[in-house]
Amino acid sequence: MKKYNFSPGPAILPASVFKEAAKGIVNYQDSGLSLLEMSHRGPEFTAIIEEATALVKELMNLPAGYEVLWLTGGASTQFFMAPMNLLDAGETAAYVDTGTWANKAIKEAKAFGNVQVLASSKEQNYNHIPKGVKIPKDVKYLHLTSNNTIFGTQYHKFPKSPAPIVCDMSSDFLSRPVDVAPFGLIYAGAQKNLGPSGVTVVIVREDLLGKVNRHLPSMLDYRTFIKEQSMYNTPPVFPVYVSMLTLRWLKKLGGTKVMQRRNKLKAGLLYDEIDANPLFVGTAAREDRSLMNACFVMNKGYESLEKEFLALCENNGLVGLKGHRSVGGFRASIYNAMPKQGVQALAELMRDFATKKG
Ligand SMILES: Cc1ncc(COP(=O)(O)O)c(C=O)c1O
Repeated sequence: MKKYNFSPGPAILPASVFKEAAKGIVNYQDSGLSLLEMSHRGPEFTAIIEEATALVKELMNLPAGYEVLWLTGGASTQFFMAPMNLLDAGETAAYVDTGTWANKAIKEAKAFGNVQVLASSKEQNYNHIPKGVKIPKDVKYLHLTSNNTIFGTQYHKFPKSPAPIVCDMSSDFLSRPVDVAPFGLIYAGAQKNLGPSGVTVVIVREDLLGKVNRHLPSMLDYRTFIKEQSMYNTPPVFPVYVSMLTLRWLKKLGGTKVMQRRNKLKAGLLYDEIDANPLFVGTAAREDRSLMNACFVMNKGYESLEKEFLALCENNGLVGLKGHRSVGGFRASIYNAMPKQGVQALAELMRDFATKKG
């Protein structure tokens, strides 16, 4: 049976990438060796990481002065590595609390300097993105989470900030064109739109570094990885390889503009069904709905059907749809690699279910 994986991450990747990656494990480019046993300092992996870096620069249209790094420790390590490198003791950084991940970033930053939480949508269970937030002039940076994976909200327009923006783009990286100029640092765990878990891509404006007085261990200093081209220690070879293959796929399809068009179309199909179907209701404010993670629950009076619908999805090859426990219901993660057919199959199943039960 054809299966579609709606999991929030690790997540679906393009089928062609899975195929190519599998070949690389068994016999990398007919070398008679697996990529997994090759030296990271050898010509094969050097070419891979250089191509991956060049593709991120090209696809993100990076201006001069930005560096691309391939790190480990997940986006969660960036929650503390970013303030550790950018925020000196006594300085203030501004944060917007848009969900669980933003909250974790706030918690970690407090260990390094002052944290001003400018706004939070916690009282409404993070169902929207706070608007009209005033950003003080004297903060070191503004931290945002561009897409809130758990709650299904997304910044469709970033606020104008007098300070550089530090942004967790884990769950919408390369899903749309982004003007990088207002950003000082962007980070993304690969395991949603880019590759397998195990690598985190960081884009950093180099002139912001080296301004804090604390001692930075080499492994937690962005400058180490800039100097050593992400090869200070053994990098996550396979996740970088798979990310490079996904980047090639993205470029071949036409880049972020094409991706945005596809993502809008897919999300539109699903949200139209959620809005038209009497059995289901969306949980996020309409104007902030995520194009990556669509969250919805059973409508009033139909709550008892939740388990049955989830089982029906599983039986029809639509997997990974259970919502996060803090929202409940369903979450369809429809990242770049999810084909339109997957979303159509889900919408049709919702329609059939309503015909039978409504
Ligand atoms: C927006 C966002 N930030 C951070 C994380 C944590 O990432 P990691 O598990 O790579 O540390 C996640 C994971 O789902 C996420 O969705």
